[in-house]
Amino acid sequence: MHKTDFGLIGLGVMGKSISLNIADNGFDISVYNRTEAGEAHITKNFINENKSFKNIQDFTELSAFVSSIKRPRKILIMIKAGAAIDSVIEQIIPLLDNDDIIIDGGNSHYKDTVKRTNYLATKGLNFVGCGISGGEEGARKGPSIMLGGTTEVYKHIAPILEKIAAKDSNNKPCCTHIGTDGAGHFIKMVHNGIEYAEMQLLAELYALLCKSLTNEEIATLFSKWNSGSESSYLLEITIAILRKKENGSYVLDHVLDQAKSKGTGSWSSQAALELGIPNTMILSSVFARYISSFKDDRTQLSKSIKPKIASEKLDVTSLKSAYRFARLINHQQGFKLIHEASVNYNWKLNLSEITRIWTNGCIIRSQLMETCISIFKSNTDIFEDKTILNSLISEEKNTITMLQYGLSQRVALDSFSSAYNYWVSMTTENLPANLIQAQRDYFGAHTYQRKGMDKSQSFHTNWKKL
Ligand code: 6PG
Repeated sequence: MHKTDFGLIGLGVMGKSISLNIADNGFDISVYNRTEAGEAHITKNFINENKSFKNIQDFTELSAFVSSIKRPRKILIMIKAGAAIDSVIEQIIPLLDNDDIIIDGGNSHYKDTVKRTNYLATKGLNFVGCGISGGEEGARKGPSIMLGGTTEVYKHIAPILEKIAAKDSNNKPCCTHIGTDGAGHFIKMVHNGIEYAEMQLLAELYALLCKSLTNEEIATLFSKWNSGSESSYLLEITIAILRKKENGSYVLDHVLDQAKSKGTGSWSSQAALELGIPNTMILSSVFARYISSFKDDRTQLSKSIKPKIASEKLDVTSLKSAYRFARLINHQQGFKLIHEASVNYNWKLNLSEITRIWTNGCIIRSQLMETCISIFKSNTDIFEDKTILNSLISEEKNTITMLQYGLSQRVALDSFSSAYNYWVSMTTENLPANLIQAQRDYFGAHTYQRKGMDKSQSFHTNWKKL
């Protein structure tokens, strides 16, 4: 058998789709899946289901799989993030040769990626933390690919990964070298965090709208929005979800209201907390999912609350404005987090390039992301863009109208409120933090600085003495 161009471990949904994408693009690929734990037939079934592909070699034995790949070997691991990745790495290390490249395509934590990169370097091996977005369809037809690791290693894997990636509006691949070690996985993590908030905003709009409109009417309204500046992949799929019927009734109405999560949203929030960057929208979206999981408590407690009947009329025009407002804040907070990580980890991240590879293939692709490409060419902060700032100023009024309606109807608007509060605080010269600092000084002698005085000077007051 001739040697293949690429190896892939893990034939789950994403692994299968990426393998077919690679094969479709004319590369010879070796695929491997373990045979234990009820997975005995996965590899054979995959080959049988895809008989038309003559350039896929299948293996259930790791050493034969590794030997079948051209050197330096490029092996993509597509398995569940966590301990399983370390286990596979340990199994293949003895089979590999110097300079071979292991790519982790799952949603691994970026700090684990840094550790694995350093560990594998001691073995003479290259490690690439690779964020892949787009779900099953994206993986098959063209995902957005965020790669960490060195530029030299990127050059080795780029010909294949750039070919299988989605293409932007200029037909350039939505695949790029993000930065060293954990940078690719960090960026994928924040992508998912922004995704959490974008999903939560749509869920909150739905919660408001379904008080007075049918699912079909909401879908019609969203379709209008989706033809303009607010268009996005997530809005598009929400329209399809709202319209989906089975046996004459909306499927969505039968879906249990408990949203699960696999970690990247909370990791993004943890990174924001560690780096000191306010990312209230991702955090509130993660907590909104957590709150949803307390279904029994909610059901019980709701019995003591009288349901609100929508009395006021909902001003639908305010909603679109508020939606734009909150999305701008979400992108502002997400990119501030990315910028801070870039400085802190010395990743030298190119924000404009990151937005470019997020314009197609990934879950948060949108018209707004296209706009962000040019904004981040000259800024690291969306608020520095005059058009965006003016847009936020003019949309504030409609956001208030929307929030007031939500309050009056008892609709929880976790993310919209977070967006509004962040905006108000960020545009307020004097915050009540003077009182917080005084309280700290009172009970802990933590000292404080005085307005208009040199910041190097600190003061302590004996607050008890009148
Ligand atoms: C993507 C998705 C993908 C996955 C996430 C979602 O970019 O293709 O983000 O990575 O669906 O795991 O996260 P939760 O499962 O936590 O919602």
